[in-house]
Amino acid sequence: MRHYSRVIGTGGYLPTTICTNDDISQRVETSDSWIFERTGIKSRRIAGGDESAASMAEIAATQAMDAAEILADELDLIIVATGTPDRVYPSTACLLQQRLGAKNCVAFDIQAACSGSIFALSIADQYIKSGAAKKVLVVGSEVCSRLVDWTDRETCILFGDGAGAIVLEVAEQAGILSTHIHSDGGCEDLLYCPNPQAATAANKDELGFIKMRGNEVFKVAVNTLGRIVDETLAANEMDKSDIDWLVPHQANIRIIAATAKKLRMSMDQVVVTLENQGNTSSASILLAFNEAVRDGRIQRGQVVLLEAFGAGFTWGSALIRY
Ligand code: UT7
Repeated sequence: MRHYSRVIGTGGYLPTTICTNDDISQRVETSDSWIFERTGIKSRRIAGGDESAASMAEIAATQAMDAAEILADELDLIIVATGTPDRVYPSTACLLQQRLGAKNCVAFDIQAACSGSIFALSIADQYIKSGAAKKVLVVGSEVCSRLVDWTDRETCILFGDGAGAIVLEVAEQAGILSTHIHSDGGCEDLLYCPNPQAATAANKDELGFIKMRGNEVFKVAVNTLGRIVDETLAANEMDKSDIDWLVPHQANIRIIAATAKKLRMSMDQVVVTLENQGNTSSASILLAFNEAVRDGRIQRGQVVLLEAFGAGFTWGSALIRY
């Protein structure tokens, strides 16, 4: 018998503090209209001083496990995607395991920047399909606000904090129809975040803030996401019209609109959370998926395309029959 992964619960968490475009324009030379027109963002959430990737992950994960009606000790595997781990080690997944009291599982982090949740879903799916795990918790949790240089108007307008979670279970029918993940380490300079503590002599003076050549990243993202759509449809012998929902990584409304156009989808079929969340990196797709499941837009049996692009470069997709 073949094994598939099925989504049995979703969850999400956003910190309470709201940072509007007007708030940012008090700090750097920008405006609400520039930010909204170029990105689609109006506000983003900022984690409180006592919040972290692990604490936000715990709230999102608990919500997802409640929806799935499973207990923590039933989990076989926890994967956390984050670029803002609480500690270098232990992994945020291990910290989350302890917080949840999930005694019978293995837990590890993956780092694939904004594509992290797609990479984590892909790994989870391989574990379930191979029979190595039956119940898997996937979380994306990010405190991007702590990696942002709040004096750099080209990046500080973009990012926000939050956590999304999904529980997968082995099933006889898909579920996850396919996942596709890719990396190209050749574009490091276009988007990176230094780690000053592990710096070499050559880059010891770099601060630990996100550095991005936004316009160049934008162009690569649009082209690459167009290709991943084609790859995903071809692998499943599906047509554009077979997709009910697009749940994209939330980096820029113009990138999202370009992918929707390629799919000949109306924006009504695209889940957009960007306006009030900004780019929450590896949390964004799981937050958006959770929102559309909970408000009833995504219905059981519908086909949902998740796609992401991020530093690395990394990019990928997951096609899910929910
Ligand atoms: O999630 C991971 C992947 N990340 C992405 O996908 C992000 C991709 N990039 C983007 O979303 C866009 O490139 C940005 C939103 C970052 C920038 O938008 P853009 O349309 O590509 O603008 P630009 O970088 O070409 O800059 C246009 C102008 C420049 O001024 P000049 O040189 O034309 O005089 C910038 O200095 O806009 C200026 N500018 C700003 N003006 C007001 C840049 N940032 C700002 C700002 N407010 N915040």
